[in-house]
Amino acid sequence: MSPPHLLTLADLSVKQLKSTLTHAAYLKRVSLPLLQPRPHPAFVVQPPKSLSEKTIALLFSKRSTRTRLSAESAAHLLGGHPMFLSSADIQLGVNESLRDSARVIGGLVDGIFARVGDHTEVEMLAKHSPVPVLNALSSLWHPTQILADLLTLLEHLPSPSPLPTAPHASTSPGHSVPPDMLPADAPPNLDFGVLHGLTLAWLGDSTNVLHDMLVTYPRLGAKVRVAVPKSYPCPPEVWERVKQLGCEKGIEWSDDPLHAVKGADIVVTDTWISMGQESEKSARLAAFQGYQVTESLCRAGGAAEDWKFLHCLPRKPDEVDDEVFYGKRSLVWEEAENRKWTIMALFESMFGHWKLTPED
Ligand code: CP
Ligand code: NVA
Repeated sequence: MSPPHLLTLADLSVKQLKSTLTHAAYLKRVSLPLLQPRPHPAFVVQPPKSLSEKTIALLFSKRSTRTRLSAESAAHLLGGHPMFLSSADIQLGVNESLRDSARVIGGLVDGIFARVGDHTEVEMLAKHSPVPVLNALSSLWHPTQILADLLTLLEHLPSPSPLPTAPHASTSPGHSVPPDMLPADAPPNLDFGVLHGLTLAWLGDSTNVLHDMLVTYPRLGAKVRVAVPKSYPCPPEVWERVKQLGCEKGIEWSDDPLHAVKGADIVVTDTWISMGQESEKSARLAAFQGYQVTESLCRAGGAAEDWKFLHCLPRKPDEVDDEVFYGKRSLVWEEAENRKWTIMALFESMFGHWKLTPED
């Protein structure tokens, strides 16, 4: 029997998405006090050591800061051994077929977190690996990014039960709750209702980050208004998954940034030159002129007065100016920190003890 793999959030049901996010919030709550010099005695719960005696292979054939640091530190907190392997370290489609590498690596570890070039590479790993494969970014999808974005929105949109924020995170706004008012083992009460009727605007390229938004937000009741130049359309295999899930009803696609930001509560973008597209730099910079996220564009287009900004990072000033990126609307630092807790939740569910049950 094939183990469960996760190559895009389209692979998860709405119930699984919600339980993964709730578990991520729980892991964040119980883990953050451990990072303080003297943990508050009210926090008696420790993160589960569900990766004890387990090794997770982190196969990265592209650069990474956030995903790699999140994965290594999350696996450590769960008691496991993360083994980082770049394509310069091992035979990974070079000197050995991916099919053979998948079979061998999967026989030596308990889970694979893989960042690849073409999406077919992670599909090949999943097809031939005897252990679960989680996509750490491919040409088409970036599922762990959108889980972090969702946790960030659930924390920062008005909610009756805000989560504590990292005590060391000077960038986090005032959401912290005194530790003794928040039992560590209480299940987090995330208010998924805050996503209902939310409007997200995407400006720029049709990237892996956008693609996982398209198969996720509409299923949670949010609308996605996209502005992408006509010469950079959504790949057909992505749109196929969008349609299979009935998500196209929640998406409005155009090439007009002013139209896309109308009524937007959240504005999101990504680099115009994704990893592997460096040779297309000058053509892309020319094609995306007019798509930079700025205060004046969002005002002219009629974004909501208190719109917030998300970006997966790494960021270039081409796609968003400094005023927005470093300004009060920006949630990018909180979003980056949440990579860790959401990856930790997936590591537990896919490689550890805490399982997503079939009825989820
Ligand atoms: N957002 C993201 O995936 O960042 P890294 O490429 O640094 O991992
Ligand atoms: N679209 C970007 C995301 C980086 C996290 C890329 O693939 O390079």
